[in-house]
Amino acid sequence: MKSPHWSPRSWREKPAQQLPTYPDPEKLAAVERQLSAQPPLVAASETRRLKTRLTEVCQGNAFLLQGGDCAESFGESSRESIRDNFQILAEMAKIVSKHRDLPVVQVGRVAGQFAKPRSSQLETRNGMTLPAYRGDLINRFEFTREGRTPDPQRMETAYAFSAAKLEVLRTFSDEFYTSHEALLLPYEEALTRREEDNSWYDGSAHMLWVGERTRQLDGAHIEFARGIENPIGLKCGPDLAADELLQLIEFLNPANEPGRLTLITRMGYQKISSKLPPLIRAVQSAGHRVIWCCDPMHGNTTVTANGYKTRAFGHVLEEAKRFFEIHHAEGSHGGGLHFELTGKDVTECTGGSPEIREEHLAEGLYETLCDPRLNARQALELATQLHEKI
Ligand code: PEP
Ligand code: CO
Repeated sequence: MKSPHWSPRSWREKPAQQLPTYPDPEKLAAVERQLSAQPPLVAASETRRLKTRLTEVCQGNAFLLQGGDCAESFGESSRESIRDNFQILAEMAKIVSKHRDLPVVQVGRVAGQFAKPRSSQLETRNGMTLPAYRGDLINRFEFTREGRTPDPQRMETAYAFSAAKLEVLRTFSDEFYTSHEALLLPYEEALTRREEDNSWYDGSAHMLWVGERTRQLDGAHIEFARGIENPIGLKCGPDLAADELLQLIEFLNPANEPGRLTLITRMGYQKISSKLPPLIRAVQSAGHRVIWCCDPMHGNTTVTANGYKTRAFGHVLEEAKRFFEIHHAEGSHGGGLHFELTGKDVTECTGGSPEIREEHLAEGLYETLCDPRLNARQALELATQLHEKI
């Protein structure tokens, strides 16, 4: 049972990081009311089914593969792009399950991954400074004052795009799950519904995660996440101390339910060997049942001399390999992988074969609105190189 003090809006009493300030609060309230009257995007029964599957992952009898765009955009929602991303995840899953004989639970970063936390709140270009782009759910990429002003109407557009994408995904498979970062809390709250059993489900996606920049124990995002029944992910970066992690786990999963909580570690290839083992040991000795999932992307971002954000294939592979080696050594189940990828033939991450070099980033297809994604070939190469480690 949840603490009696939780409600879908109790996050409003806590300090919140990374939320936009809307210039017109009345327009915001009108959009929230409008969204609250819409049906949820996913059914609670599907979310419960995902939780059952994740329980198997937690017990070491299945594997979680989570991936998709860093940021979805309203401009790219064609059936082909949805299919290409879906297929690449499905092919990676096939590679993993064939070699390890483990069922793979596929969870897309899709149909809702429209909001982005930013390290810098402002962006300067050619002497002009404007608010940073925060994802299509919040403002526009276009570098104008109007474009960068948060507009609540975009939540309704995101809802409509997400519904349309889900329709397409359902034609590909009847067991496919969606996830995104639970960042824009007014949107998440507006889509949260009480089910017959009196528990609350966020109907915006099957699984939600709390990002590295918003996981403060006493913050709004953790407050929101603790009260919904959906499976929850928690990003764990290199600065997360073991005792803080234990408190977060107790708060997010007080009943120690397997399948409820996935720790998505994103340490960086240079830090994982020193940072991950103490967390695993602390969780083991406290007896917490969690899924361990490796995000080898977000700790390995670099910027090239000519200003492109990129990630080296070799670093991504290295972090993921070490993740499995460490879990094996600690007697723990490295239960999942989390990637930013696309089925398109982009040149955003360096390395792989044929090798993408830094100079290719400017020449090729660099399309991401946020972080660099693995292209289809790089994603499959990773799965092939990793399956023996899992
Ligand atoms: C993300 O997954 O897109 C992200 C921003 O990750 P993190 O919170 O781990 O930095
Ligand atoms: Co990202």
